[in-house]
Amino acid sequence: MTHAPMSPRLRLGVNIDHVATIRNARGGDHPDPVRAAQIVAAVGGDGITAHLREDRRHIRDADIERIMAATHLPLNLEMAATEEMLAIALRHKPHAACIVPERREERTTEGGLDAAGQHNYLTPIVTRLTDAGIRVSLFIEPDARQIEAAVRLRAPIVEFHTGKYAHAQGEAREMELRRIADAAALAAKNGIEPHAGHGLTFDNVQPIAAIPQFAELNIGHYLIGEAIFIGLEESVRKMRTLMDLAR
Ligand code: PXP
Repeated sequence: MTHAPMSPRLRLGVNIDHVATIRNARGGDHPDPVRAAQIVAAVGGDGITAHLREDRRHIRDADIERIMAATHLPLNLEMAATEEMLAIALRHKPHAACIVPERREERTTEGGLDAAGQHNYLTPIVTRLTDAGIRVSLFIEPDARQIEAAVRLRAPIVEFHTGKYAHAQGEAREMELRRIADAAALAAKNGIEPHAGHGLTFDNVQPIAAIPQFAELNIGHYLIGEAIFIGLEESVRKMRTLMDLAR
């Protein structure tokens, strides 16, 4: 069994969806998520993450190509496991595709994918993305059953949903952190590269960044929100510094 290499530098993928959320509030072209991607690249972000939701509430189809063309950074396309999204991913061939559960009525991705329960449904989707040279990531809860499913699906990456950790306080947060650390170790032991994301902020990122197996964090809402007050450059830089200090 191969072991996922330990990454000395924890990569920061910046999710730029909410630049598009603000753009779409007025239906025009400003602010442009492409400009955000360029700023992320200029300040040393390691990747761009964008979620093309089925209802197109933020990122639009045309953004995908523009974002990919605008910087040298790898694009991590978050997508629901549908035929429509699969066709889009196969057309654009992003560096990575993160399969997420999606419900139209939710405000954001509220939980992990049931990779265990949906094994048969997900198998051809993971296979077709992999055959196209796209690194598949499964957005799952930090749970042994889901990691075992990811192993069976031959996914090279899992991204652990850190939402419960982010929203918990005190002892509950400590328990959730231990669950995430155990899951990261189990994934790495099984040759899967662990990532994490959702709800991460300047205040809660460091215990997650300190988990040595993590290779990448994907962070969006907070960074874009902070950008309103301190600018996107400073927001990304500060997150980068906190992550580095935690290692
Ligand atoms: N990773 C995945 C798979 C997500 O779906 C999201 C939210 O779109 C994020 C990371 C980023 O979460 P947040 O916007 O809360 O930082």
